[in-house]
Amino acid sequence: MKISVAGTGYVGLVTAVCLAEKGHLVTCFDIDKNKIEYMTEGKAPIFEQGLEELMIKNKDRIKYTSDHDEAYRHPDVIVIGVGTPEKKDGSANLQYVYDVSRQLAQTIENDCTVIVKSTVPVGTSDKVEQLIRDNLKHHVNIEVVSNPEFLSQGTAIKDTLNASRIVLGVETPRALEVMKQMYSEFNIPYVITNRNSAEMIKYAANDFLALKISYINEIANLCELVGANVEDVARGMGMDPRIGGRFLNAGIGYGGSCFPKDTKALHWLAKFNDCELKTIKAAIEVNENQKLRLITKARKYFDSFHNINIAVLGLTFKPGTDDLREAPSLDNIPVFLEEGAKVKVWDPIGANNFRRKFPSEIMYCESIEETIKDAEVCFIFTEWPEIRQFDIDKYGKLMKNPLVIDGRNCYALELAGEARIVYESIGRKTISNYKNAYSVVTSK
Ligand code: UDX
Repeated sequence: MKISVAGTGYVGLVTAVCLAEKGHLVTCFDIDKNKIEYMTEGKAPIFEQGLEELMIKNKDRIKYTSDHDEAYRHPDVIVIGVGTPEKKDGSANLQYVYDVSRQLAQTIENDCTVIVKSTVPVGTSDKVEQLIRDNLKHHVNIEVVSNPEFLSQGTAIKDTLNASRIVLGVETPRALEVMKQMYSEFNIPYVITNRNSAEMIKYAANDFLALKISYINEIANLCELVGANVEDVARGMGMDPRIGGRFLNAGIGYGGSCFPKDTKALHWLAKFNDCELKTIKAAIEVNENQKLRLITKARKYFDSFHNINIAVLGLTFKPGTDDLREAPSLDNIPVFLEEGAKVKVWDPIGANNFRRKFPSEIMYCESIEETIKDAEVCFIFTEWPEIRQFDIDKYGKLMKNPLVIDGRNCYALELAGEARIVYESIGRKTISNYKNAYSVVTSK
């Protein structure tokens, strides 16, 4: 099939490349001409495992353009995969979705199925259909489908090619037929429903996962007070198949481009419809507090961070990506700087993006060793494999005051128990094998 994809961010580009991999002829449209040029040279504009390889492998089936005519005039299917960023009031900004709808309506010259893949509030596909009909230049038949994606950054290609389900929100048999044709090579079960339900599935699924994380984080905070270990608790809970073990890793909260935005958007949608989603509201609130949890822990040792040498390991919202959106590092590091700390950071991929936001206030290091050398406290914000595999004894050897405050539970307590450090983590007891830690720091 001839498929055009509007938007070349995570959703658009990954979808395009996976559709090409399955044999379709794909045209990627983006208004950013520089990005188009870059992709035409076979380069991926985002860091995503396997993406560039698939772009190169399928280069004969993928075109990149910023010309509306080329993208929208004759395709069988148009996928809308543009961003729906959060507005100040928490609702989703649908400007880009509507711009594409208007543009394609004015260009399209043959019958076409339009897929809304961006995460959009319930009812948006109806509005997209209306907008297209109002702006059509030619007498053509248009079907609009809601087909949300469930890809995670870092595993986006795998998540798309081996998805657990393909959700199809369709209003006509013809639309369903086209969708089945498009996905015929994927061998993934379908969930067939109407458009509003498909749109709701996406938000309800994402927000449920966010809620699960906030839930385990609250349990973790209580575990610390009552002497329980959250990892054992999560394992014991997760073995019940009704609960499931995934997304029960306690930490300093969820970040990224989806959970924070989608929880707020659903909460907003509920309020707009005169109802309140109390569980989602709680998930948002818990997450906001959890992001600053390590600072609360550090306050036991420091009244202020003034002149304190701070090491930060991990900047991105999760490992495997250079994305900093809603990353806890962005909430915490400004507090350190505001209080006059001397901050050194390390991240294997995210440092360059971070440098754009903080070009000179902090020191960027090439290795974990260099970062922790002479530090008085080390904060861990992202569970990169390099951090997990780092020799824990080196904290005791290299730091001036070996206090490690780990927001991602990178080290087993048994291991930390043998190291000459003070080790604080989430939902687990504090290890205190360096008796002077407290007094050294507070005597400053
Ligand atoms: C998420 C969804 O997983 C995906 O289905 C959706 O389409 C987009 O949003 P993503 O944001 O890429 O994907 O990352 P994910 O792996 O889900 O992690 C999100 C955040 O939750 C990260 O900050 C991560 O650290 C945190 N998290 C995840 C936890 O704190 N604990 C967990 O157990 C799992």
